[in-house]
Order: sequence, then C-alpha cells, then structure tokens
Amino acid sequence: MTISYLRNIFLLFDLFVVLVHCSGSVVSGEAVTTRFWDCCKPSCAWKAKARFSHPVQACGKDEKPLTDITIGTGCNGGSAYACSDQQPWAINDTLSYGFAGLFIQGHVEDFWCCACYRLDFTSPLLRGKTLIVQASNTAYDIASANRFSLAIPGGNTTSHDACASQFGVDQTVFGESNSGVQSKDDCANLPESLRSGCEWRFDWFRDELYPTTKFTRIVCPKELTQKTGCIRDDDTSHAANSTIILQGSARSALPPATVGVAVAAMVITSLLSV
Ligand SMILES: *[C@@H]1O[C@H](CO)[C@@H](O)[C@H](O)[C@H]1NC(C)=O
Ligand SMILES: *[C@@H]1O[C@H](CO)[C@@H](O)[C@H](O)[C@H]1NC(C)=O
Ligand SMILES: *[C@@H]1O[C@H](CO)[C@@H](O)[C@H](O)[C@H]1NC(C)=O
Repeated sequence: MTISYLRNIFLLFDLFVVLVHCSGSVVSGEAVTTRFWDCCKPSCAWKAKARFSHPVQACGKDEKPLTDITIGTGCNGGSAYACSDQQPWAINDTLSYGFAGLFIQGHVEDFWCCACYRLDFTSPLLRGKTLIVQASNTAYDIASANRFSLAIPGGNTTSHDACASQFGVDQTVFGESNSGVQSKDDCANLPESLRSGCEWRFDWFRDELYPTTKFTRIVCPKELTQKTGCIRDDDTSHAANSTIILQGSARSALPPATVGVAVAAMVITSLLSV
C-alpha cells in the first residue's frame, strides 16, 4: 500500500464528508416574496409530493377538511380547495405564522413541500419581523429567484376564479387579479373565515409589496403542522434547531461531530500529501 494510494482513499473520504455536510446542512438563503390566495387545492396536498406523513390538508366548498386526497383542484373543475385556516396570523408585532408557495432555485417540489422556514424580512418596512411558514404550495411560475409566495386571503387571486366557486361569491370580492383587495376595509367583503388573514396584510405586514427576506429551514412548529397535518420524514434532520434560532443564538448549523470528522479528514489528507 503506497502513500499515494492512502492519499486517494482519504481524498475520497474528504469528498464523502463534504457531501454529507451538504446534504445534512441547513437550507438558507435570500428570497423575494409575493402574495397569493387563489383558493386552489395546494400543490403539496397531492399524494407523494415529498416524503411526508400526509399531504397538506385540502378542504371542500363547505370548508370541511377532505379525507380523499385524490379529489381534483377547484382550479381545474374539481371540488378540492385551500382550507381557510391556512392563512397568516400574528403572535405579536415581530412574530407571525403562515403558509407559502415556494420556489427554491435548483430544486423541485419534493425539496420544500411541508418544510418550514423562518423568514427574516430584510426590506425596510418589515426589518426586524419574522414570519414562520410551512411550504404548502409551489410557485414554479416565476423561477428567476428564490421565492416565497405568501398565502394571504384577498392578497392576489392570480388568474383563477376558484374563490368564486368555493364560496359562491363574485370573484371581485377577492380583489383584482395580481394585486388582490386594495384596502383593509375591502377585507370585510371576504367570507368571514378569511377576513383576519386579509387584515393581517394591512396590519402586521404593513401592506409591503414584494418584501425581500432571508430564509432558514427550521423544525416545523406544531402550530403549523396541526393545520396542514403534514410532517416531512426529514423534518428534524435538515433543519436548524428552531428553539435555538428563535432565541437568536444560532451560529453553526453543523453538528459538532460532522465538524470534527471533517477536520480529522483534512489533517490526515494534508499529512499524506507532504
Ligand atoms: C400575484 O401573482 C402573480 C403570479 O404569481 C405574480 O406575478 C404577482 O407578482 C403577484 N402579485 C403580488 C402583489 O404578489
Ligand atoms: C413575540 O413572541 C415570541 C414568541 O413567544 C417571543 O419570543 C418574542 O420575544 C415576542 N416579541 C415581542 C416584541 O413581544
Ligand atoms: C432544540 O434545542 C433545544 C434546546 O437545546 C432542545 O431541547 C430540543 O430538543 C432541540 N430540538 C431538536 C429537534 O433538535
């Protein structure tokens, strides 16, 4: 066994450590946000969109949770819609919970469906505020940046008229296509179950348009998973520890053992290289 043979083995080992590091590391980055509330069955409400306990809960016209996950979306002739309780709410002036449709560059749905993210807004009006979301939907339509499309009732009907069929109201109640309702007063026209999330946009969210944010994957809080019924198989392993992060003291997202192995591999490889 020659030195160079050993060195090759350790180089491969280094590569392995790097790969483990990457796959197990916390997902974070920068993103833009948009708004939507199209009333469609959320994309993560379909079977096998990711490895999870159960797809995101969808609801019928009567807002009752559906048990049949194969029912088609109300945006395409079916009778499954978004559940009204998957709307945002504020805990206090700096912390809110909600749901979002995601696009993370270089990935597809199985990467984010039902994962939870901590959004720390970076644009001036919302700086210092944190929104914790579970990915219940997918936002493939604009792929030029990482994007969280926040589920806000009356926030943006996009091009669908599913809200009209879900609630038996005129589609204009949900506002204009691409922008939603124009004022907090307009929220009063929405079905009662959706008004608080609509008003949240004008209160906590300050009606900010396209705010930018930092995002970090966290362990899903039960406040969110008890509404969607969806927990990913990798919920804890790919997330930063949300308890620590909420206290604002997270530094390294890597477990100490991984760091130790990586350092050892580096030292041995460099010794063999001299
Ligand atoms: C509404 O949704 C469309 C389609 O995703 C998007 O282009 C638009 O920017 C959204 N509007 C807002 C205010 O987020
Ligand atoms: C908001 O609530 C969170 C969670 O309970 C808490 O950690 C934080 O200190 C609160 N912030 C304010 C400004 O009250
Ligand atoms: C997160 O950290 C807290 C405090 O150290 C600990 O009690 C909790 O079990 C951790 N959770 C996970 C999922 O690692």
